Amino acid sequence: MKFFVDTADIEEIRDLAATGLLDGVTTNPSLVAKAGRDFFDVLADICACVEGPVSAEVTAIEFESMIEEGRKLAALANNIAVKVPLTWDGLKACRLLTQEGTKVNVTLCFSLSQAVLAAKVGATFVSPFVGRLDDISHDGMDLIADIKKIYDNYESFTTEILVASIRHPGHVVEAARLGADICTVPPVVLRKLASHPLTDRGLEQFLEDWRSTGQKILN
Ligand code: G3P
Repeated sequence: MKFFVDTADIEEIRDLAATGLLDGVTTNPSLVAKAGRDFFDVLADICACVEGPVSAEVTAIEFESMIEEGRKLAALANNIAVKVPLTWDGLKACRLLTQEGTKVNVTLCFSLSQAVLAAKVGATFVSPFVGRLDDISHDGMDLIADIKKIYDNYESFTTEILVASIRHPGHVVEAARLGADICTVPPVVLRKLASHPLTDRGLEQFLEDWRSTGQKILN
């Protein structure tokens, strides 16, 4: 499973990229607003820091302007994946941009029918939002399981399932169990993946016992 980080905060991205765990980055207009920086400066910094795909979202909602924006974003760096919303115009734009050789992430996917359409138009990634479905008492992970089953039925469906709107480590583990291709994870959740209170307690005990021996590994 690949890990993307879901943020436009370059300090967080640099820090996490240094672990070697990052396979890509996703941004969206809300995350760019939160970062409070110029969109193009942020993208340049992120693309220079991470080799994998960096999702940059169009803000146009009509096909022609989506294509113009998408082409401009794609020209910024080789690892840009243009993000388009799962609307008719977004699907049309996905098809054309993909034909032009651009990676496309179709975002705001909330249903199986939407996921099938994203695969039909050749999206590189489809982003189902599990947390937002959970928020309205649907089961986001059921959607992931069903998309996986459907995509596995057709060799021609090469779209990768990019699980988005992840809220806690359980979402990541369940996505891995279901065989999703990628999770895009907020930095705070990514850090939680390594935490366990028994690890902390065990380490404390080992160090205390080690100190009692008076020995050192390095002099
Ligand atoms: O990148 C899109 C997605 O991950 C948004 O998550 O927490 O705003 O639902 P959230």
